[in-house]
Amino acid sequence: MVKIGVIGGSGIYKIEGLPSTEISVNTEYGDVSVFVAQVDQTEVYFLPRHGLGHSVPPHLVNYRANIRALQGLGADRIIATNAVGSLNPDIKPGTVVLVDQFLDFTKLRKSTFFEEGNVVHTDMTYPYCPEMIDVAYNVPTPFPKRKGGVMVVTEGPRFESAAEVKAYGMLGGDVVGMTSIPEVVLSREAGMCYLSLAIVSNFAAGLQTEVSHHEVLDIMDKLNNQIQTFIVDLIKAMPEEKHCNCPRRA
Ligand code: HPA
Repeated sequence: MVKIGVIGGSGIYKIEGLPSTEISVNTEYGDVSVFVAQVDQTEVYFLPRHGLGHSVPPHLVNYRANIRALQGLGADRIIATNAVGSLNPDIKPGTVVLVDQFLDFTKLRKSTFFEEGNVVHTDMTYPYCPEMIDVAYNVPTPFPKRKGGVMVVTEGPRFESAAEVKAYGMLGGDVVGMTSIPEVVLSREAGMCYLSLAIVSNFAAGLQTEVSHHEVLDIMDKLNNQIQTFIVDLIKAMPEEKHCNCPRRA
């Protein structure tokens, strides 16, 4: 049976219309609430990253517990949503970027499962699953999608300064968010495929007058139903067999 984990970011706290059962998964990093649902032959494990009432800020999410919980349930692919600001004038709010690279500017997070025992260096050449990106790109959506892009990940919870945004743009960043690291890294360490739906809610600092969390939640609210439908269509479109190298590169 195909088993897929879905991690909902800001504004995505459930998948409407998908009846689900809440379970608690015990991991060595803590307990995690997961909502189990079924889409055709696929078992789906939904996990709201920031908690149901958006009570956990990006730098305090228990990323290791979340990924371990999904791995323990047998999921070998993850679809995550990440609210992001755009660093690139060509990428407008309302676009979903299927990012294929990251630049890690986080500072304080526990970013590995490998702290003792064997020294492990996981290949991170292509952190985001190329097959999942292809499949997602080919699912029709009412909103524009962009295939590929560089996600800058900051520590947060503050937004960036205008100078930081300028520098990130010069380094090749396309969008900036606060949650893809360490999620994608831990997924790769666990041998799981990971896809980020980077939902552009605003132009980043300095590219528009100011950035507010209200604005982020506003656009997430507007796109919410369309994103949820997209996730369900994407789960249906995902082939049973994998044709990527993600598990072998762990
Ligand atoms: N910066 C960082 N994270 C974000 C932004 C932003 O502009 N918008 C939504 N998440």
